[in-house]
Amino acid sequence: MQLLDGKFVSEKLKEEITAEAAGVLAILGRKPHLVAILVGHDGGSETYVASKMRNCEKVGFKSSLYRYDTSVSESELLAKIKEINRDQEVDGLIVQLPLPKHIDPEKVTEAIDFRKDVDGFHPVNLGRMMRDLPCFVPATPYGILMMLEEYKIETSGKHCVVVGRSNIVGSPISILMARNDYPGNCTVTLTHSRTKDLKDVVRSADIIIAAIGKKNFITEDMVKPGAVVIDVGINTEVSTTTKSGFKLYGDVDFVNVAPKTSWISPVPGGVGLMTIVGLLKNTLASAKKEIY
Ligand code: GUN
Repeated sequence: MQLLDGKFVSEKLKEEITAEAAGVLAILGRKPHLVAILVGHDGGSETYVASKMRNCEKVGFKSSLYRYDTSVSESELLAKIKEINRDQEVDGLIVQLPLPKHIDPEKVTEAIDFRKDVDGFHPVNLGRMMRDLPCFVPATPYGILMMLEEYKIETSGKHCVVVGRSNIVGSPISILMARNDYPGNCTVTLTHSRTKDLKDVVRSADIIIAAIGKKNFITEDMVKPGAVVIDVGINTEVSTTTKSGFKLYGDVDFVNVAPKTSWISPVPGGVGLMTIVGLLKNTLASAKKEIY
């Protein structure tokens, strides 16, 4: 078994991004600029947004965070998004999800100018991705592709089973793994909570992408010997033994599954770190006008 080391790969790619950000500063006279909007005080969202902002600073980007109380109205939020859309010195705009129930996430997502949608959630970007046109690819799927590429994992002709059909990970990665490119050219099966004989389907996979959001969902009996396992799960449990007060678990029972695999990504230290790189790469591409 070999480790798909998100720490190593993300640090290496962030060094490259840092050099390119310096180039943007030299040419444009300003840094690449990511704006994040955070509504409410969800613990997970706070942590993710703080990490995104910290990483921007680390690679030489400017980052701005607009915070709103849970009570903010949908119209106030939409007005702020429109204002940021017009700002020529903003390259990327993300609104951290989930949003409070009284705010329609679809309206918010569509309000973001697709040319600044570095999360890749806007229907224009998703539509362009479907057609293999230049677009912002959602950060986590983008991170998975970079990880596969870094370790030169063979994908052509392989059976890739994706577990979980979310808009953010499962659905887009299933499209990307099937496209006529590297990494890709897989035969993809997209599975979910209604899939019959799920264990048998997963057991037939050469590549498993677990994005179901359930701790230890992928067990040793579901994994074919020699499979490549990508664990996208970020499941938290309260813990008294960690500094942060919570402990992170993937979707894969790592201890028992890892010895059967050829390659596996750990949690923490795997795909999560690559997601940030995906976001940074999209923001850089936006600043360099590489896509739009
Ligand atoms: N919530 C969980 N993941 C994400 C993400 O990648 N982007 C945003 N905006 N919200 C999220």
